[in-house]
Amino acid sequence: MQLCIALDLPTKEQNIKLARELKEFPIWLKVGLRSYIRDGKEFIDELRHINPNAKIFADLKLYDIPNTMADAAEELAKIGVEMFNIHASAGKEAMQAVMQRIAAYHNRPLVLAVTVLTSFDEKSFHAIYNDSIDHKSMQFAIEAFQAGLDGVVSSVYESKRIKAATSKDFITLTPGIRPFGEASDDQKRVADINTAKENSSDIIVVGRPVYKANNPKEVVERILTNI
Ligand code: C5P
Repeated sequence: MQLCIALDLPTKEQNIKLARELKEFPIWLKVGLRSYIRDGKEFIDELRHINPNAKIFADLKLYDIPNTMADAAEELAKIGVEMFNIHASAGKEAMQAVMQRIAAYHNRPLVLAVTVLTSFDEKSFHAIYNDSIDHKSMQFAIEAFQAGLDGVVSSVYESKRIKAATSKDFITLTPGIRPFGEASDDQKRVADINTAKENSSDIIVVGRPVYKANNPKEVVERILTNI
C-alpha cells in the first residue's frame, strides 16, 4: 500500500511549505484543480525539486470529447506527472483514446477512472444516469478496465469488489482515510489504515489528518510505519 498526500491547502505557499516538511518521504503528492489552475506546471516542477522521490498525481478529472481528452492527456504525459485521472462517464471510446495517445510515452503516467462522484446521492444520480450508484459505479469500473486504464478512484469499501470484477492488479486509490480514527470531517464513509489494508486498497489518500496536524511529518512517519 502506498500513501498519497492531498495538497489541499488554500495557497501555493502553504502547499509548498507542507511539501518541504515531507520532502524526505517517497509519497504521492496530489495536485488538485484549484492549485493546478492557479499555480500550473511550475508548481509541479517546484514539488519535484523539493522532493525528487515524490510522485505527482494530477487530480484533474478530465471530461470532454475523446480527441480533446487525448490532447490533454498527452500534455500531462509531456509534463511527466506519474498519474492523472479521467471521468469514466466520458465513455469507453474517450478512455481508449487517452490510453492510445499516451502509450508511446516512456514511463507513461498511470491513468485512473473516476466512477461516481461522492457528492451524488441516489436521487440526484438517478436523474442523470437513470441507474443506481452501486450498479453504475461497478459498470464504469469494468469499462475502465476494458479500456486499458490502470485503476479507479474508489471508496475503500468497494476496493475488493472492483478487483474481483476486474483484476487484483487494477489499482484502487481510496480517499476518505482517517489513518488512526481521526475526525471524519465532511467524509461520509471513512476508513483507517487497517481497514484499507484489509480491503486491498493500493494507494490511500490523506488530506486533513496530515495538513491540519501540528506536526505533519510525524503523522506521515507513523502512517508509513503502519502501511
Ligand atoms: O482531507 P481529506 O483526507 O478528506 O481529503 C481527501 C482528498 O481526496 C480531497 O482532496 C478530496 O477532494 C479527495 N477525494 C475525496 N473523495 C473522492 C474523490 C476525491 O475525498 N471520491
